[in-house]
Amino acid sequence: MKLFYLKHLLCAFLIFSFFNVNAQDVSRYPLVPYPSKLKAGKGAFIITAKTKITAASQFKGEAEQLNELMSKALGTKLAVSKGAAPIKLVYREEISQPEGYKLIITRQQLIIAAKYPAGIFHAIETIRQLLPVSIEEGIVRKQLSLPAVTIEDHPAYEWRGMHLDVSRHFFSVDYLKKFIDRLALYKMNKLHLHLTDDQGWRIEIKKYPLLTEQGAWRTFNNQDTACMKKAADNPDFTIDKEHIIQRDGKTLYGGFYTQDEMRGVVAYAAARHIDIIPEIDMPGHMMAAINSYPFLTCNGENKFGELFSKPICPCNESTFEFAENVFKEIMDIFPSKYIHIGGDEVDRSDWAKSEACKALMQREGIKDLPALQSYFINRMEKFFIANGRKMIGWDEVIEGGVTKSAIVMYWRTWVPDAPVKAVKNGNTVIMAPGEPLYFDNQPDQYTISKVYHFNPIPKALNQEEAKSIIGAQAEIWTEMIPSEKRADYMYMPRMTALAENLWTSSPDKYDSYTKRLVKQYARMDAMKIHYRLPDLPGLLNEYVFTDEGKLSISKPLPGLIIRYTNDGSVPEVNSPVLPSPLIITKPQQIKVAAFTSSGTRGDIYTLNYTQQHMLGAVKIAPPKPGLVCSYYKAYFKATTFMKDAKIDSTFVSDKIAVPATVKAPSFGIAYRGYIDVPADGIYSFYLNADDGAVLKIGNSVTVNNDGNHSAQERSGQIALKMGTHPFALDFIEGGGGFTLKLRYSVNGSEPKEIPAEWLKH
Ligand code: ACM
Repeated sequence: MKLFYLKHLLCAFLIFSFFNVNAQDVSRYPLVPYPSKLKAGKGAFIITAKTKITAASQFKGEAEQLNELMSKALGTKLAVSKGAAPIKLVYREEISQPEGYKLIITRQQLIIAAKYPAGIFHAIETIRQLLPVSIEEGIVRKQLSLPAVTIEDHPAYEWRGMHLDVSRHFFSVDYLKKFIDRLALYKMNKLHLHLTDDQGWRIEIKKYPLLTEQGAWRTFNNQDTACMKKAADNPDFTIDKEHIIQRDGKTLYGGFYTQDEMRGVVAYAAARHIDIIPEIDMPGHMMAAINSYPFLTCNGENKFGELFSKPICPCNESTFEFAENVFKEIMDIFPSKYIHIGGDEVDRSDWAKSEACKALMQREGIKDLPALQSYFINRMEKFFIANGRKMIGWDEVIEGGVTKSAIVMYWRTWVPDAPVKAVKNGNTVIMAPGEPLYFDNQPDQYTISKVYHFNPIPKALNQEEAKSIIGAQAEIWTEMIPSEKRADYMYMPRMTALAENLWTSSPDKYDSYTKRLVKQYARMDAMKIHYRLPDLPGLLNEYVFTDEGKLSISKPLPGLIIRYTNDGSVPEVNSPVLPSPLIITKPQQIKVAAFTSSGTRGDIYTLNYTQQHMLGAVKIAPPKPGLVCSYYKAYFKATTFMKDAKIDSTFVSDKIAVPATVKAPSFGIAYRGYIDVPADGIYSFYLNADDGAVLKIGNSVTVNNDGNHSAQERSGQIALKMGTHPFALDFIEGGGGFTLKLRYSVNGSEPKEIPAEWLKH
């Protein structure tokens, strides 16, 4: 081999080993997010109570933060020395990224280098993840061992955010601090607090004391009672008691942050390089304020319209005076350069009836109600700019026209061109689409992968335009999240997938991430995070058996115990342990759930077992390839309504998928024909649809995934003899999702696409 080639091969190998994550790296460096560059080292750096630190003058605060970590682990702080020391926090001009850092750990020393304090802070969180998880419980040891490594790291996106709705249900200052600590651990840097909404006003405003005296408290509403109902089967839905009070003989739910408390939270976050962005949602979502200050409306009424609550009135100067006074105090509490004004879901119908609005629209040449909303938003933005702040609004703010300087937060998945329009209008955009970033949506076995692989850059943008997308954020709306435990369950661990996604850009380490996540679970246990346990693998909704069925479930994490019931009750810590396998000889419903050693229960799975005879094949005239498909261009609430509708067109298809040519937002497709299976067996079918779909084989429903919903998979089985069987699949799309996927497995094999040659008519 010529030396030239050898050099190239060596070079390729070095690049490969620098960027690839091998199994040893996963266990030695279980870091999330994974660093931009990591080079494994040999040996370890040992820290004892005698090890010293030295820090560049601008990093004295960070040296103290490192020392806090050390004292959690060693029970004592390390001496900070002016001279040489093995732990060094050094200033490096050339590390120019605002949050970038370099970490060099050898047997002899630990060097943390950055240009800015945020970089040093992220390096400290990296070190935290390299230390034993027991430090999170304050378990002290005599010496610490850090694996040797060289890391060069910086984030791909400047906005790596989480949102928390503290209005629908309230969360304490202590919980906010815990939340911030978890964001910091995974290098997230923005916390968007949704402080006000119809259901509660949560921040003290001194000029308008009734906002919290009255607006922070409510008698239980329909969301509270819905949670109480669910609590019967799942204790996570029990409303946290600390937010329930007795006043004047009434039981009230609520709470608010005083300005001093919130300043404390802001400072706590700032020390962790997390910016808190306050949202005071207006002109809609203002019922809690209007209750106390009815002058804010156009007509004094405070109620729900068809979809949303009635907003404040943008046509009275008193509204602007109120809004500016509120935001003046908000800006005084929150130093963030961003202030969120909401601007979503406004029922503008009362504005049209108001004399004040008619006069204003005529005077200002405002042509319609969206433009009237823009008048309000744009005028408020001027006020923000005059105070040195940037305004963020939910993506509805672009509907009536918005200035280029406003920042648009995209959430409406069903309006996919909204972020593209905003970017082309010149706005900066933060991606926060409901799918997959509304973390209040029930997670399933696909959620983590979807979050990990979510691309914040819409396909329609070119490279230059893509720069206007500054990052992404996930939301936690809390209508149905009445407790800290339920909140933990909803955002953990999927936040770690978002963290790696946004830190890394086009992350391609999913396999290694899932292995590193197993290590992170141990840290989350030590931090007492009530995270969602990993899914039990390979379970179906509906099972069939002919003579006897066998159920065995492999544990997704070591240490979990799987328990079951077959009397309709919910599995509890004392329910029987699932044998491997459980033999099924009669039709029944089985419920299974995993439990941790401390008794935390994972999701409950309901498995229905039905006894069947093998379905005999049918004889058909010489079959033609593919299924006959009928296309209905209409909106359906459920697939059952398709049978009465008019067929728009028909075509033949040899696969179950939405044809690329279908563009209508709402439609239905009926697939009809036969499925030709090559052998006798118990066939499982996995039907993933957004919106609904129903699969019938023979004459019976095999998978029912009907209704209007986001992408979800349901599965079922049927016992089939070799040969052709009648096949019917109905699919409806309400608007936006376009997901339709059918896979099969036989006698427990891995799920696969249905081969084209199996489909006939
Ligand atoms: C929203 O979900 N209304 C922003």
